[in-house]
Amino acid sequence: MQALVLVGGFGTRLRPLTYHVPKAMVPIVNVPFIERFVDYLEANGITHIVFAMGYLPDPIANHLSKRNGKAKYDFVVEDQPLDTGGAIKNAEPLLGERFFVFNGDVLTTIPLREILRVHEERNALLTIALTPVDDPSRYGVVVTDSDGRVQAFIEKPPKETAPSNLINAGIYLYEREVLNHIPTGQPYSVERGLYPKLLEIGAPFYAVAFPNDYWLDIGKVEHYLQANFDVLSRKAPLPIPGKEIRQGVWVGEGVQIAPTAKLQPPVLIGDGCVVEDGAVIGPFAVLGEGVIVKQNAVVQDAVLWDGCVIGENANVSRCVLGSRCEVGEGVKVEPDRAYGCNERIETGVAA
Ligand code: GDD
Ligand code: MG
Repeated sequence: MQALVLVGGFGTRLRPLTYHVPKAMVPIVNVPFIERFVDYLEANGITHIVFAMGYLPDPIANHLSKRNGKAKYDFVVEDQPLDTGGAIKNAEPLLGERFFVFNGDVLTTIPLREILRVHEERNALLTIALTPVDDPSRYGVVVTDSDGRVQAFIEKPPKETAPSNLINAGIYLYEREVLNHIPTGQPYSVERGLYPKLLEIGAPFYAVAFPNDYWLDIGKVEHYLQANFDVLSRKAPLPIPGKEIRQGVWVGEGVQIAPTAKLQPPVLIGDGCVVEDGAVIGPFAVLGEGVIVKQNAVVQDAVLWDGCVIGENANVSRCVLGSRCEVGEGVKVEPDRAYGCNERIETGVAA
């Protein structure tokens, strides 16, 4: 079975991290998102993956070209942002009679064979996976009848007006014929254009809900942190790179951890990290490769990319630090935000 993965967006809500790193390459517990995503597709029987790219395509293509996977990979690069529908239409020459389409920023375990089963049973033109969320206003809200046939698709409805908490999970099964309804060579949104149009013409458009499977769109700082913590705490059943030295404490190769440092689970200390005396790491902390945490510093509810250096007595909580950030001695980093790569953080909030 074939899959088309949309990875061309700007990743606006993950800025400044995505100024230099495409959203598909951000690490989730020290493994690039796209690596975990391709693992998921291959485990679900996908044998050919087309990547629809736009913004920063090279890091994704370079990474995948080194992967020794089971599937065949193809890359299509847009010369202008075409939005979701335009990106799908642009990949048409590489697509077959039936294929899955994915938003390339969703960490999930939704089983694809169940979507295929419903699609075939209903003789659908298009079948879409749904997931329940607390605040549907940020997503595409979907209403179905008791048979699973889609009645309404409302992209990002104003808060409190959403008719359901079931939303578009960004996973679809398309019959090729659907592509005839998308205009060529121009930006076009499937969510605001194609799906309402298919409903208008009465096309067999079905949905299937997955309330029990893990699902999270990683495209916002708060959710990016959550995705990391869900993998770390095993709420999302995905591999953690490293060795579990005691329950919930994972360490990579060649780490140096001082005897008076405290590792509070769940926590991952990446390869080559140094944690000095009196430092407190976790609960909920991911350290990339070669991170140095100096004496008595605290890192909690945080994700630190490779090569960060945290000064003595500093406090890094509820935030993401891009690669090689340096936090000054005693600085309490501003929470609930991301810092871009190579930042020197010398002023923080009051301790
Ligand atoms: N190739 C390409 N070209 N990909 C694009 C483009 C483009 O011009 N624009 C966006 N994408 C990709 C993004 O990289 C992302 O993987 C996917 O399309 C969806 O874009 P987002 O910007 O992440 O959309 P969203 O999260 O606000 O909303 C979408 O996802 C929700 C589920 O997470 C919609 O599909 C909602 O209906 C859905 O509920
Ligand atoms: Mg998204």
